[in-house]
Amino acid sequence: MKRENKTSRESFSSSFGILVALAGSAVGLGNLWRFPYLVGENGGAAFILIYLAFVLLLGIPLLLSEFIIGRRSQASARQAFKILAPDGHWGFTGLLAVICCTLILSFYSVVGGWGIEYFVKAVKFDFTNASDETLSSMFSTFSSSTWAPLICHTVFLVVTAGIVVSGVKKGIESFSKIMMPVLFVIMTGIAIRSLTLPGGGAGVEYMFKPDWSEVTGKTFLAALGQAFFSLSLGSGMVITYGSYVKKHERILSLSVQTALADTAFALIAGCAIMPAVFAFGISPSEGPGLVFTTLPFIFGKLPMGGIIAILFFFALLLAALTSSISVMEVIIASAMEEFKLKRKTAVTAVFIGIWILGCLCSLSLGPMSGWKIMGKSVFDLFDYLSANVLMLIGGLLVVIFVSWKLGKKALHEELTNGGTLKIPDWVIDTIFFLIRFVAPTAILIIMIFQYVS
Ligand code: PFF
Repeated sequence: MKRENKTSRESFSSSFGILVALAGSAVGLGNLWRFPYLVGENGGAAFILIYLAFVLLLGIPLLLSEFIIGRRSQASARQAFKILAPDGHWGFTGLLAVICCTLILSFYSVVGGWGIEYFVKAVKFDFTNASDETLSSMFSTFSSSTWAPLICHTVFLVVTAGIVVSGVKKGIESFSKIMMPVLFVIMTGIAIRSLTLPGGGAGVEYMFKPDWSEVTGKTFLAALGQAFFSLSLGSGMVITYGSYVKKHERILSLSVQTALADTAFALIAGCAIMPAVFAFGISPSEGPGLVFTTLPFIFGKLPMGGIIAILFFFALLLAALTSSISVMEVIIASAMEEFKLKRKTAVTAVFIGIWILGCLCSLSLGPMSGWKIMGKSVFDLFDYLSANVLMLIGGLLVVIFVSWKLGKKALHEELTNGGTLKIPDWVIDTIFFLIRFVAPTAILIIMIFQYVS
């Protein structure tokens, strides 16, 4: 069932605007913080190749499926399923997406706050010649303290809310249009500097020459989870942004371009980090501390490292912000439609709720660290529940919804913009096959393995 296009609905102003907003959401801490350390923990090139296969076979079909739901319904994640399938219980899927984004934004804002602190430290040249131990204890002391991370989390969330309150075109699109090219230039510059370091070649080899003997079931789990997190899948983001996309836009090319941009950024981030790590003879498998302890150590030793550190943490902040605004927009759009709220009221209410949850996440790494739920701190629980449970369930329900409930005719209509675009039948058949059979099977297998192990 299609709904009339509401004239009052906000929308992006151009194809470029949509692309930078989508890429802005996809490119974030997932690329600059999570991807490099997962590559390091999972043996390098083989992990990257498996990741690329998941992006191609599952990422693009899933992006497209969410796009179809959003653009066809012209509604928020919460309402979209109810509009397209008023007779079933599908509205629940939209609610899951909103819950998922609430959890993501709570811990994302805390990590974004760490980014602010590290940007300030970089500006003060705090890393210059600091030892490895000094930097490790700097990070653990800061992240487990009470007030400093709370203040940073608050600042990060205020900036996020400030952008979202300005709306889709003036806030989200304008911010992404300026910041994404800046981010691209900074990261490419750092990658070139890193690639030209003596000894950096070993890092390039590590990233591009696969050693299959390192691959286990865990590698596949990590690669799929990362593909979901990095492309913001199963969280209602593409549904929400898709609802601001006009009927004449080409959603297939937008989906492919988004996946390409996100993957390119992940590889550039890898090329910025791995050669430097190898050039300094550091183990690439340092884990989540890679960006906040290992990199500052390297920056502290590099000629011009002080400036590179400032640029890197500035880029990290920009990437985090263009993503956090998209997570907040999923919740805001749903709240505005569900409770008929004005944007300002919705942003204020959501800000307060997320601020409290974010404080809990931050405190759970320090003063409240003894307080565990299911054996995890609140921070780890939110991270685990969103990236490893809700996004996967969300993605699974989305592909089932599009291929079994909406069906191939709807897919054809949306891909060809009602028959006005020429797309070969075999392309549509292949995409339908991937959405209907390959994606649900792969997600199910990985979920089962994950919970069993
Ligand atoms: N894709 C973002 C990243 O890589 O950091 C994280 C994210 C953004 C997840 C938006 C979910 C979302 F809706």
